[in-house]
Amino acid sequence: MERLQKVIAESGLTSRRKAEELITEGKVKVNGEIVTELGTKVSSKDRVEVNGKPIEKEQKEYYILNKPRGVVTTTQDEHHRKTVVDFIPTKARIYPVGRLDYDTTGVLLLTNDGEFANILMHPNDKVEKVYMAKINGIIKGEQINKLKDGVEIDDQKVQATRVKLKKVNEKANTCMVQITIHEGKNHQVKKMFESVGFQVEKLKREKVAFFDLKDLQSGEFRKLTPKEVARVYALEQKENSH
Ligand code: URA
Repeated sequence: MERLQKVIAESGLTSRRKAEELITEGKVKVNGEIVTELGTKVSSKDRVEVNGKPIEKEQKEYYILNKPRGVVTTTQDEHHRKTVVDFIPTKARIYPVGRLDYDTTGVLLLTNDGEFANILMHPNDKVEKVYMAKINGIIKGEQINKLKDGVEIDDQKVQATRVKLKKVNEKANTCMVQITIHEGKNHQVKKMFESVGFQVEKLKREKVAFFDLKDLQSGEFRKLTPKEVARVYALEQKENSH
């Protein structure tokens, strides 16, 4: 279910703000009834009309991109830097699902399906995010345990589900650590490592739920299959069923 004004805006008819005006002015019908309540939620099965004309539904599109470094995770950048959306040749108004920092690489999903995006962004036990971090030092068991027990970042406690030391470079005094989290707070992984005394020098997202980088070089993307999309919707059903 999505907010009526969002659905109207996503149809390409007008902006979200204009859509809100149309609703409050009584120009929008849902299943034949005028709706003036801005919070009204509708599903893809509801018939939405604006000024007596049904809105056209934009086809849903789904992509996975192996995000390179030096690219912003937004739809438009005020400084005209390259954005993740620039990699995908489509006219649909797709947007990134969640955010990766400018210097972070790896798995990023893009879509124009708000429900799909919500399932993946809402903290959910079934949606793990796996990162590989190169840090400026060699992590000890005690610090790994701290990350797993929970650390405080921006006054909130966050935990890693798994932390694995993958590679140690004694000479350079760095190591590679694989860390799995469920939330997606801003700069979460960097801040978690900072809280135990390390700076992240490189960060790559290897996995989001069951999506990984298999066959995708940096900057490459592919469409998701209908099966993959259905699997994401199934993640939500599982969560709601308990
Ligand atoms: N955590 C971070 O610190 N940065 C990212 O880009 C993603 C997760």
